[in-house]
Amino acid sequence: MLGCGTVGASVLRLIEQGGETLHERVGARVEVRRVLVRDLDKARAGVDETLLTTEPESVFGDEGIDIIVELVGGEQPARSFIERALDQGKSVVTANKLLIATHGPELLARAVTAQVDLAFEGAVGGGIPIVRTLRDAFASDRLTAVTGILNGTSNYVLSRMLDAGLTFADATAEAQQLGYAEADPSMDVDGHDAAHKLGILAMLGFGLTPGGDPMHVEGIRAIEPVDHRFAARFGYRIKHLVVGRDHGDSVELRTHPALVPERSVLANVNGALNAVLLEGEALGPSLVYGQGAGGMPTAVSVLSDVLDVARSIAAGAPGLQTRGIRHTERARRAMADVESRYYIRFRVLDRPGVMAQIATALGQNEVSIEQMLQDRLPEVEGGPADVVMLTHGAREAAVQAALEALKGSAILVQDPRLMRIQDV
Ligand code: NAP
Ligand code: HSE
Repeated sequence: MLGCGTVGASVLRLIEQGGETLHERVGARVEVRRVLVRDLDKARAGVDETLLTTEPESVFGDEGIDIIVELVGGEQPARSFIERALDQGKSVVTANKLLIATHGPELLARAVTAQVDLAFEGAVGGGIPIVRTLRDAFASDRLTAVTGILNGTSNYVLSRMLDAGLTFADATAEAQQLGYAEADPSMDVDGHDAAHKLGILAMLGFGLTPGGDPMHVEGIRAIEPVDHRFAARFGYRIKHLVVGRDHGDSVELRTHPALVPERSVLANVNGALNAVLLEGEALGPSLVYGQGAGGMPTAVSVLSDVLDVARSIAAGAPGLQTRGIRHTERARRAMADVESRYYIRFRVLDRPGVMAQIATALGQNEVSIEQMLQDRLPEVEGGPADVVMLTHGAREAAVQAALEALKGSAILVQDPRLMRIQDV
């Protein structure tokens, strides 16, 4: 095993708890030979210290090792570790979404050449079995849509800000303490982690080669408490979503905060929970839901992969699962062509003509207003007001053009805040 942090230490614990049952399930003994770490002096409760090493050679030089579990995270040295393991003919289990989303095709090809497996259930959705679901359960159907909450940290932060009134900084610090956040939490709150996961799901579900054109990625930093309050008054909650659609001639991928109807399933997925709504052409809708981050939930996915791979090795057929993953370059739908309803909050000077100016900019771009609320900011006497509009369905390009037309206008106290509305 490479890495013994939040997830790695939990994998060791789970193996200990599993005892003989694990060996019986595989039909062979599963044992941890070495654990590579950075710092031997770190306190690690419950970890057998005799397994620890800081020397990669003592892992890669051990011919008795069949499976390498990569839980270091990040780009390097994790990528070189995985490449080296595959080139040595060892199967690899990883939870590294960044690597699969950015170098998945090369790494999978390497695994296929070496006739071994590269398994990555823990990379998406922590403990929920979404990789298996798309790779195996959907092998007989065509996935047409995926909509979900895939970043536990962002969902935790949004839930704590709304339910406990925490600041963004305090809620993020809590998520870090609980082991949900990446080593660099900006990966979570700026949307990149969710984008990596969506890229992986699009490979498994839509057969789209990861990487390629960058997808639209927004995080949760710009959401203010006032946005939660307005969303609630319109009957919505704000969630950080991944959205993927297979339009046949193109694939749409985006990740951003969105308003979801308060009675919908996704609106009621709170804390570090994740949920993914899948739409299959033949199957129709289905839902995968559960703990999306944290040591033990992710360890369940990692260890399940280890057991699967071990079973294949014991049966003399390693690499079968990995060979089944097919992907190709496909056209991507530009964000400008995406259709949605929109929430737009304008912080404006409260004076005559303001509403007319906003309505003109929207109207001239064929963006139709569906509902509207206006609130004077109570803390500033005679000061600015928030005007919030929900639009009917419109093209992203049209909405952006309307906002561009208002840019620099003297009526605006700050840049308009725009969120898409996802009717799920
Ligand atoms: P972590 O707590 O930061 O642990 C990283 C481990 O890697 C530590 O044991 C560290 O050693 C070791 N390490 C780092 N750089 C190293 C190097 N150059 N050489 C040797 N060892 C090195 O990370 P984590 O939260 O367990 O995450 C691990 C992976 O799982 C990441 O890819 C992450 O994205 C993924 N993941 C995490 C979660 C989660 O909820 N945490 C969920 C799903 C997937 P020291 O202990 O000595 O510092
Ligand atoms: N940092 C990730 C999250 C861990 O918060 O969802 C699970 O992949």
